[in-house]
Formats: sequence, structure tokens, C-alpha cells
Amino acid sequence: MTSLPARGLFQANKNIMAYANVSAPRRGFGETTRPDAWWVQPLAVFLGFSTFIVYSTWAAFNPLHAGQCAYWFHGNGADYQSPFFSPEIVGVSPHAWFGAQPHWWPAWLIFSPAFLVLWAPAGFRFTCYYYRGAYYKAFWADPLNCAVGEPRKSYLGERYFPLIIQNIHRYFMYLAVVFIVILACDAWDGFRFTDAAGVKHFGLGVGSVVLTLNVIFLACYTFGCHSLRHLIGGFLDEPSKVTPCAKGFACVSCLNRRHMMWAWISLFWVGFTDVYVRLCAMGIWHDLRIL
Ligand code: FES
Repeated sequence: MTSLPARGLFQANKNIMAYANVSAPRRGFGETTRPDAWWVQPLAVFLGFSTFIVYSTWAAFNPLHAGQCAYWFHGNGADYQSPFFSPEIVGVSPHAWFGAQPHWWPAWLIFSPAFLVLWAPAGFRFTCYYYRGAYYKAFWADPLNCAVGEPRKSYLGERYFPLIIQNIHRYFMYLAVVFIVILACDAWDGFRFTDAAGVKHFGLGVGSVVLTLNVIFLACYTFGCHSLRHLIGGFLDEPSKVTPCAKGFACVSCLNRRHMMWAWISLFWVGFTDVYVRLCAMGIWHDLRIL
């Protein structure tokens, strides 16, 4: 390869610097030269997330239906617990760890077992790296999408208050892993049916499948977490060379590649699982017993 003479090289560098200093004009809100339907994705995220937030809030505030437990189905000897109410620290189903609603709970304050636990999975999702990118676009247009004009002039990023609080995600991740274990136990209970004599037997109903898919989808989402990948992967700037860590890193990376997909599948299915258990408990749907 021939080298440029010094003078020619200096001129080339000047040209490159002049090119690099050209800055794009600031766009107005929603202005773009993108020819594709860039607005579809933020709109879909907005509708999907809003639907889930509205439904899960309503479900949390409605643990009972006609005075009966609406989050636990025990028809035909089944034992299906809604994931919105698990772990049930106190409550009316046999899954409650410490019995019924405590006496000291103020009468004027609505009580629901979901209030005691839903903050953990909600915090895990709210601070998730994928969801942050998605709802920053969908809910406060920051930006609306890549290369689309945004409604503000400054950008502080996540290095300053309040968004620096998002760094709490790694701690929610530890809690989320514990929830996977608890929901796996609930799924196992979904295969244990009580007969007329009060003895438990292995069985299979549609609800057993619904609960099992729920914990599988949530596990695929949780174990593909970016924070877990960092934790299991090893050091600050390089992957660990210790075999179990390297294998763990490969597994988490495998799920992490589809993190967005698992995020949405698990979100939909956990909501559907609550709907399924609730409608069975209300007598509107009938659980089909396969075995
Ligand atoms: Fe999405 Fe941790 S980054 S769950």
C-alpha cells in the first residue's frame, strides 16, 4: 500500500474533519424522513402496556367475587392459584402463608393479597432495560422512534435523577428469581388434585397447562435479563473463563437474544393465567380435566 505524501494526507484529514462537523438540523416533534410506518411500534407498546396495567390493577383490587375467593380455583379437586396473588402472604386461600387478613389492617383501607407482592414483579418489568427503551418511546416520546423529532431540546439520560433510580433493576432481578421458584411450586400444585376422600393425586387439567406455561414463559424472560447476564458472565469488561460461569453466560445470552419476545409473551400469558383462574373460580369457564 502506498502512503500519501504529507501534504496530501493533511488535506485529506481536513476534508474528513469538515465532513464530520456537519450537524443535522434539529427536527420538530414527529418530523422525520423515515418512509416506513415508524409509529406502529410505539403505538402497539402503548396499547399493550396500557391494557395490562389497567387489567392487573383492576384484578389486584378485586380479590373476591360475590364474597368468594376469585384468585384460587378448587373445583373438581383442582388447586390453581393466580400468579397475581402469589406468593400469598396473607389471604383467604389455603396458599396463604400467615392466614387471613391481619386484624390491625384499617377497615377503611381496601385489602388485597396482591398489594403485598405485585410491587416486586411490577418493579422488575418497569426497570427492565428492554421495557425502558420501549415505554420511553411509547409513553413520553423520548424519542418517538429512532430518527424522529422529539418534543424536548435537552436529554439528561439515565445518569441523573429521577431516571438514575432505574439502576435498582439488578435488585428486582434477585426478587424475580425467587418468584420463579414460588410460581414453579404453584404450577406443581396445579397437577395435584384432591379426590372425594381428601387424598391428593397426580392429574392434568387445562389449568395445569396454563400455570406451567406461565412459569416457563416468565422464566425465559427472567433468565434472559441483562443484569443476570452481567452477574453470571464474570468480570467488568470481559466474560468469565470459569466453565460454569461461561456456560451460564451462554445460556442467559441465548435467552437474552429474544428478550423482547419473552417480555411480551410472558406479560400476555401471566395476565391470561389470572383471567383463566378467575373465570373458573367465578363458574364462567369450566376447567377441562384431561387426566
Ligand atoms: Fe429485562 Fe432485566 S433487562 S428483565
